[in-house]
Amino acid sequence: MYRSTVLLLLLAALVALARARPASSGLLTPTLSQVYETTDTIPLPNVGNLQVHDPNVVYWNDHYYLFKGGVHVLYYKAANMSGPWTQVGTVLDGDSIIHQGNRSRPWAPTTVERNGTFYCFYTLSTHGSQNSAIGVATSTKLDGSPWTDHGVMIRTGQGNGSDVWPFTISNAIDASFIRDNATGKAYLNYGSYWHDIWQIPLSDDWLSIESPEKPDAKQLTFIPNETFRPEEGSWMSYHDGYYYVWFSHGKCCSFDVRGFPARGDEYNIRVGRSRAVRGPFLDRDGKLLLDGGGTIVYASNHGLVYAPGGLGVLPGNSSTPDILYYHYLNTSIGFTDEQAQLGYNYLKYDNGWPVVLDGITIKSGAVTIARLPGWWSLMILSGMWTLIVVPVSVNMGDFPC
Ligand SMILES: *[C@@H]1O[C@H](CO)[C@@H](O)[C@H](O)[C@H]1NC(C)=O
Ligand SMILES: *[C@@H]1O[C@H](CO)[C@@H](O)[C@H](O)[C@H]1NC(C)=O
Ligand SMILES: *[C@@H]1O[C@H](CO)[C@@H](O)[C@H](O)[C@H]1NC(C)=O
Ligand SMILES: *[C@@H]1O[C@H](CO)[C@@H](O)[C@H](O)[C@H]1NC(C)=O
Ligand SMILES: *[C@@H]1O[C@H](CO)[C@@H](O)[C@H](O)[C@H]1NC(C)=O
Ligand SMILES: *[C@@H]1O[C@H](CO)[C@@H](O)[C@H](O)[C@H]1NC(C)=O
Ligand SMILES: *[C@@H]1O[C@H](CO)[C@@H](O)[C@H](O)[C@H]1NC(C)=O
Ligand SMILES: *[C@@H]1O[C@H](CO)[C@@H](O)[C@H](O)[C@H]1NC(C)=O
Repeated sequence: MYRSTVLLLLLAALVALARARPASSGLLTPTLSQVYETTDTIPLPNVGNLQVHDPNVVYWNDHYYLFKGGVHVLYYKAANMSGPWTQVGTVLDGDSIIHQGNRSRPWAPTTVERNGTFYCFYTLSTHGSQNSAIGVATSTKLDGSPWTDHGVMIRTGQGNGSDVWPFTISNAIDASFIRDNATGKAYLNYGSYWHDIWQIPLSDDWLSIESPEKPDAKQLTFIPNETFRPEEGSWMSYHDGYYYVWFSHGKCCSFDVRGFPARGDEYNIRVGRSRAVRGPFLDRDGKLLLDGGGTIVYASNHGLVYAPGGLGVLPGNSSTPDILYYHYLNTSIGFTDEQAQLGYNYLKYDNGWPVVLDGITIKSGAVTIARLPGWWSLMILSGMWTLIVVPVSVNMGDFPC
């Protein structure tokens, strides 16, 4: 306890010093610094030590398995969220059996497990196109052995089924998944810029939607009265009687090629909640997500984290809080899509609203800060190069589990 008190006092002093200096030092060029959010109210990520876009993590058998878009959907394994990650294999052993989008390079997988079977929902599309499909593959092992590709669940743009509403007006990308906590009924969520995010009931085998001719679709989010509706990458979680719909808002990628959007228009992570799995969902201000609502949970910050999104939430248990994980660009590393980094933070719930925590916490409820990862960057940004910095090691013994 003594040790951590001293450290916290030291850190508080450093943070106070750092804040006394403007955040834009000579480190950032004047042009670039104008596009960075410099808020320091949002904690920095715990570093995941993997380059990934749209990460998807499953905890199984005492290990973390991370799935990512790429040739045939790659997946990795680690003992903790900070890695090191070792590649286990790919979900598809060749191109997808679906003839849509880019068959060899699926995007944004979401994997769930039921009674020993893993279901990986994957997207086939190409950038800026509504000509997309969501498919599913299954396996009973996460050891690199081949999965079974069951092919298409939904299509938009063209192909069989794409003429059925709402596939006519939506975009079949970025699958996520939720079960009704009371009934176990499963739902597929999907969507992007084209009329934003939708939800459709799945059949009992989870390999197709329940009713392809009449999908019983519910719209979850929408930005009305606009032609540009940058909401995508949905996730749905359940916590203590609420369903949370999460999504990424803003410009996701190609910052190095197409330049920076206006400050705040880059990717950030938003949420709304409902007591019912099918909504309607409201944000913290009581605004409907169907009316453009969505509370920002994680955004660009400290001049270091840019355009976080592509998120998921790992459910916690009695000893470990929920984890929000996502990709972000580290402005001191670079802005290409390939340079996106895995980051994660523990969550607490403030009146039932998820809030990102600083550092690695051990106990939910009474929130214990075991580490303040922000101070490195604060010091760098404030130009305090000359101070000798010794990274704080986490003394787990200080914090009862
Ligand atoms: C994660 O696991 C690796 C390998 O076992 C270990 O070296 C590292 O300290 C662990 N990190 C955390 C944050 O637990
Ligand atoms: C599909 O993805 C593969 C692998 O990334 C790439 O080599 C190929 O050029 C892509 N095809 C199209 C049509 O974009
Ligand atoms: C789970 O799988 C086992 C083995 O395949 C099977 O015997 C059991 O009936 C399954 N349970 C449920 C609830 O489906
Ligand atoms: C088109 O989709 C419907 C509904 O999923 C399916 O029953 C039918 O077999 C499909 N037709 C073709 C040609 O794939
Ligand atoms: C948005 O559109 C809806 C329906 O068309 C309309 O009722 C509402 O007044 C519009 N809101 C604004 C702010 O323009
Ligand atoms: C959610 O489902 C679990 C298992 O069926 C049950 O124990 C729990 O009470 C449910 N929670 C709520 C809030 O309904
Ligand atoms: C909670 O989850 C963590 C991993 O996130 C695991 O190490 C721990 O054993 C779990 N505890 C319980 C009580 O299930
Ligand atoms: C950002 O990148 C720098 C340089 O590689 C590294 O020192 C720092 O830890 C990174 N921070 C985060 C939050 O990724």
